[in-house]
Amino acid sequence: MCGIFAYNWNENSIPFLVEGLTNLEYRGYDSAGVFGITKNGKIFLEKATWKVSNLAWKVELNDKNYKSGIAHTRWATHGGVTELNTHPHFSTNERFFIVHNGIIENYAYLKEELIKKWHKFYSETDTEVVAKLVEYMFEKDLITTISKVTKKLVWAYALWIIDVENPDVLIGTKFGSPMIMWVADDACFLSSDINALSNHCHEFFTLEDNEIVVLENWKHKIFNLWKEVNREWEEMSQEFATAEKWKFETFTEKEINEAPDVLLNALKGRINFEEKTITSETLTELNELDIEQIEIVASGSSYFAWVTASYWFKELAWMPCDVRISSEFLYDTFLPNKKTLYVFISQSGETADVRESVKIVKEKGCLTFWLVNVVGSTVAKMCDFGLYTHSGIEIWVASTKNVIGQLSVLLLMALSFGSKRNLQIKEVRKIIWEIEELSSLMKIQLENTKNIRKVAEKYSKYNDFFFLWRNLLFWTAEECALKLKELTYLHAECYATWELKHWPLALVWPGFPCVALNLKWVLEYKTASNIKEVRARNTTVLWIITKGLDNSELYDDIIEVPETSRILVPFTPMIPMWLLSVEIAKILWKDVDKPQNLAKSVTVE
Ligand code: F6R
Repeated sequence: MCGIFAYNWNENSIPFLVEGLTNLEYRGYDSAGVFGITKNGKIFLEKATWKVSNLAWKVELNDKNYKSGIAHTRWATHGGVTELNTHPHFSTNERFFIVHNGIIENYAYLKEELIKKWHKFYSETDTEVVAKLVEYMFEKDLITTISKVTKKLVWAYALWIIDVENPDVLIGTKFGSPMIMWVADDACFLSSDINALSNHCHEFFTLEDNEIVVLENWKHKIFNLWKEVNREWEEMSQEFATAEKWKFETFTEKEINEAPDVLLNALKGRINFEEKTITSETLTELNELDIEQIEIVASGSSYFAWVTASYWFKELAWMPCDVRISSEFLYDTFLPNKKTLYVFISQSGETADVRESVKIVKEKGCLTFWLVNVVGSTVAKMCDFGLYTHSGIEIWVASTKNVIGQLSVLLLMALSFGSKRNLQIKEVRKIIWEIEELSSLMKIQLENTKNIRKVAEKYSKYNDFFFLWRNLLFWTAEECALKLKELTYLHAECYATWELKHWPLALVWPGFPCVALNLKWVLEYKTASNIKEVRARNTTVLWIITKGLDNSELYDDIIEVPETSRILVPFTPMIPMWLLSVEIAKILWKDVDKPQNLAKSVTVE
């Protein structure tokens, strides 16, 4: 949430900052701003509301003399979407310019104190308070001042500051929010994540909390409690170098189309595909530990992936499995258990409430495991063990292909735990064989989308939807409804079909269609009779059904999915349902890649 990009360079241009922001736009697209300074102290400040492209055309003709620059793309937290609330913010004397990612929780108190000292505020943001505080507390030099200012802040922050009176220097510091850095022969760059830099660099390092980085004439120094420290370089993985849309209209469609490869990528090196056996060293190591149960912490789509996994852990490995929403886990009573494996799942590996949940569990000395996509992200670094999903870069907001990657790894974990307990080796082999097959089935689903477009035309005319599920399809229904809501802003709710009679049926009428998931091996006959009750009330039914299961009198429209074994059914509705949401969103003229009010990486609590 919120993306920051900055450079300290021999000479470069403001449009270069905008390019960095464009790569980070999925972190927030409410407004964007840039600040640059020449070696003689001439400054440039420009801001624009909404998309980065609005800023791009404002700065297009700018020349190339700006030695240091800071830039910000905003996901609004304090105050509305206005140019005044857009970063960079500045002090009353217009000497200190600042960009910030995070939330200063005690900003209202600090603001009140500063107002008493005659500071005037032009914005509603917490960031402006920091700019004014730097001015108020300034003494001697900026490093001393910043280390004092940050002691007053109740986190979280990644802050980058330029002092107009010292244009050679750019200073950054962080606590709780991400900050990464790349150094070249004649330039230093800072960014919220590696995607801003993916076209330019192959190695980077991440700053730790409380460190202060000083960039001066494109040389860098990092201090922790006044001691200079060295950071280890991390290799930029190849998968971050291809942030292109290729032939697709939207990134979301491109990413959905990558799902079959993601499924197999997540298993590569962890399975011997010839022998159909599990070879992952991490999973072998896990199996040697005394783990009796699993507790899973995640949010959004990652949370729903875990709900499915909890069925697998129970069915395949006979292991109790509890799933928790990370934001609630933080404020619930934590009952540490040394025989529980605490698993944290996150595409970005930066989600604030997941990150904070890891801290709570680690403090009690319990075993932590990560399942993350972004290599080198904070959650991955914090936990004891983990696995990457290797889904490749997921640029825009809705998580799609990575969900498939998460499910693949989770299924592998369940199989691995199961094979140590009472799951037969031949059953493990059969499921591994089927997972490989599933990738081909998904490819076929991606090629046959004509019917989806037709269905989308009809269903784009409704405002409300019920998604109906049973048993193992619970998460799948929730995930499909989530994507519909997220991309189209239409209302959708999920219910177990049997639950309908307890009250949701009161809402059913012909203008409130039901999307019924009815797949072979998941109580399909019971679901069919529940749907009869819905049809008896003249409701429109879109039937998501296993090919070959004939219930033609029960539906108005149909999307068929391929038959799989029971364990794999949660995968099959996702591709057509995600594509259906994309199509409806396009018909309704919604921006598929940038749903309103959202951002990709939720780095603030
Ligand atoms: C939904 C979506 C979000 C994320 C959630 C968690 O399409 O993208 O719900 O799943 O914000 O993000 P990560 O997985 O990065 O922790």
